[in-house]
Amino acid sequence: MTDVAAIILAAGKGTRMKSDLHKVLHPIAGRPMLMHLLASVDALRPAKKVVVVGSGKEQLEAALKGTADLAVQEPQLGTGHAVQQAESALANFTGDVLILYGDVPFVPTATMQAMIDRLHGDDAPAVVVLAFEPEDPTGYGRVIVEGAKGQERIVKMVEQKDATEAEKAVKLSNSGLMAVKAADLFALLARVTDDNTQKEFYLTDIVNIANADGRACVAVTTDPFDVAGINSRAQLGEMEGEWQKRRRMKAMDDGVSLIAPETVWFAYDTVIGRDVTIEPNVFFGPGVTIADNVVIHAFSHIEGATIASGAEVGPYARLRPGAVLEEKSKIGNFVEMKKARLGKGAKANHLSYLGDAEIGAGANIGAGTITCNYDGFFKYKTVIGEGAFIGSNSALVAPVSIGAGAIVGAGSTVTADVSADALALIRPEQKEKAGWAKRFREAMTAKKAGK
Ligand code: UD1
Ligand code: CA
Repeated sequence: MTDVAAIILAAGKGTRMKSDLHKVLHPIAGRPMLMHLLASVDALRPAKKVVVVGSGKEQLEAALKGTADLAVQEPQLGTGHAVQQAESALANFTGDVLILYGDVPFVPTATMQAMIDRLHGDDAPAVVVLAFEPEDPTGYGRVIVEGAKGQERIVKMVEQKDATEAEKAVKLSNSGLMAVKAADLFALLARVTDDNTQKEFYLTDIVNIANADGRACVAVTTDPFDVAGINSRAQLGEMEGEWQKRRRMKAMDDGVSLIAPETVWFAYDTVIGRDVTIEPNVFFGPGVTIADNVVIHAFSHIEGATIASGAEVGPYARLRPGAVLEEKSKIGNFVEMKKARLGKGAKANHLSYLGDAEIGAGANIGAGTITCNYDGFFKYKTVIGEGAFIGSNSALVAPVSIGAGAIVGAGSTVTADVSADALALIRPEQKEKAGWAKRFREAMTAKKAGK
């Protein structure tokens, strides 16, 4: 096993995104595209990762938090020139280099590994190019191969703008991704010139130079989805759609029922057990874990939540980060939960806000109950004991705790702790005046008639 380093190109202007956010930080399935790519790279346990950046360096620094080196390319003189900017960061590195694009986020680890394995093939190729066959290759660089089946060699790499008609007719296209040994890479790059239509230093020229030296260069071919690049919001949306489509298939393969699969949106890290049913129009933000036998009813928005087996959520529920539902607990319609734990079998079935709260097993939270957790400056906690019953339309003004088995009368505004098994009734006492309404009606009717 040789060491692997990854150079990730991300210095392109990304102008078609029309965004202040760096192109590679635009999210797909709730995660920046660069982070999708780095996660696949990390599975190779790389010795080094270098991201080549032009503008927006601060944004990348903030997102990477030191998990990769940054090299600046200024001005941007082409892909070959971009890779050269990583040379000093890799000064002492002698292993295999993978060249990747920050805007090509879904290259599987297995494909990267296949490129590296090919680099160590018996014919000791100088360069391994990741190629693909798009339906319409217009715009891509072409990979011209020759040789008997199984022994093909790349004889030329040519950009669309420099290609002859015969070359343009070739479908095999360059994804841009390559594997090259560090010792070869920078030596070859030093010989690349900008003698072409675009006056750029083409990375692809290292193949042509190695060929001229009599060294083998080869292509590894992959599925177009794996090397799809994102240059516009339309492509971002398309990629999101494709990713979701695949994730839904996987969910169903894993034993999840989706009634209307095309309306369920997963995050990159959604974890779901078996025999889970997800009704139509459910959105998952990052950080959700769902155990077995859970039902998520329609129109629920769920992020940062942990849902234990047998629990039920929605319809129209909103679970925000830190929501924890224990076994067989239930969150009903128009209930919002944030940083709150709902104990085993506990229920909040209607129209509630539960924030910064601990709710004991078997507790029942009546319709319209609100935990008043914020005074405009700080957040405070509400603790509700096991088996407690909170009457409808109660306001629990935190910090406050309701003892186990206690009952809070409907419409109460609770500002002090309630003891276990007590009844807290915090509302004006009911008065009744017999026959008053009837007398009132008769008097007013007469007055209106002018009698
Ligand atoms: C490049 C390839 C082409 C391939 C295509 C796949 C070359 C010469 N051409 O085309 O064969 O079919 O990718 O999409 O390599 N970048 C930099 N600095 C630069 C220029 C580009 O970092 O100076 C980065 C971009 O951010 C992007 C990647 O390199 O991630 C590709 O750049 P782009 O301009 O999209 O590709 P082309 O050069 O047109
Ligand atoms: Ca591109």
